[in-house]
Amino acid sequence: PLVSMTEMLNKAKAEGYAVGQFNLNNLEFTQAILQAAQEENSPVICGVSEGAARYMGGFKTVVAMVKALMEDYKVTVPVAIHLDHGSSFEKCAEAIHAGFTSVMIDGSHHPLEENIAITKKVVELAHIHGVSVEAELGRIGGQEDDLIVDDAEAAYAIPSECDQLVRETGVDCFAPALGSVHGPYKGEPNLGFDRMKEVMELTGIPLVLHGGTGIPTKDIQKAISLGTAKINVNTENQISSAKVIREVLAEKPNEYDPRKFLGPARDAIRETVKGKMREFGSAQKA
Ligand code: G3H
Ligand code: ZN
Repeated sequence: PLVSMTEMLNKAKAEGYAVGQFNLNNLEFTQAILQAAQEENSPVICGVSEGAARYMGGFKTVVAMVKALMEDYKVTVPVAIHLDHGSSFEKCAEAIHAGFTSVMIDGSHHPLEENIAITKKVVELAHIHGVSVEAELGRIGGQEDDLIVDDAEAAYAIPSECDQLVRETGVDCFAPALGSVHGPYKGEPNLGFDRMKEVMELTGIPLVLHGGTGIPTKDIQKAISLGTAKINVNTENQISSAKVIREVLAEKPNEYDPRKFLGPARDAIRETVKGKMREFGSAQKA
């Protein structure tokens, strides 16, 4: 069934595993992610960035596509459609009204008080509709690596502020930026586990780890042990699908039927997602 993240994340936190958020980029990603979830008997979160939603047509297209595939594939595991890095109250409202079951309001670029005010407003609307909310504090790195400690430290969320935001807004889960990076890592990631522990103890709600691509299994396990109940992965699926498309087209340069290269790409995404579900411990937890 289509559900919010609340129940699946509370269960994951209580039982010591994490639910994967896998980002949708097109039809084949959606197919692969839903197939993987059903085959692994795992709950799943379909992450949709504003850019990806625009690419696919819009929020309504995304909701219709996920719902129809769930019917056609006879999906019985819990599925959430989640707005990833929602940029404003208005965008979150649009997603909620289009049928998203969960939204992230990313106010991390605002000063704390403003982040809290926007997040609170989103929570008020979302909860009327039974929709769950994720918020963020600190700054998740992009291409910058933590070579200069001061810079890295500046991007880390401050535990007392996290506590304040969670208490004042009533969000259902929370993403403290603690050194994870979107896209591939340059070298080993340097996650702030001490702060993660503090944030867990202060807030008590399921934590979210962004930038899941390239984090070693030992760090994944440590994060889960410190209250991480949701892990976001996108780049790794993009890399595995692009690799297969390159291989097929290199082998058959005259191929033009998209199904001949997007089909194998879909299979590669499905296998990558299944591996993540086992690694995160959500397999057989639906
Ligand atoms: O919100 C999206 C995720 O944090 C994805 O990160 O592309 O590095 O796996 P990633
Ligand atoms: Zn992210």
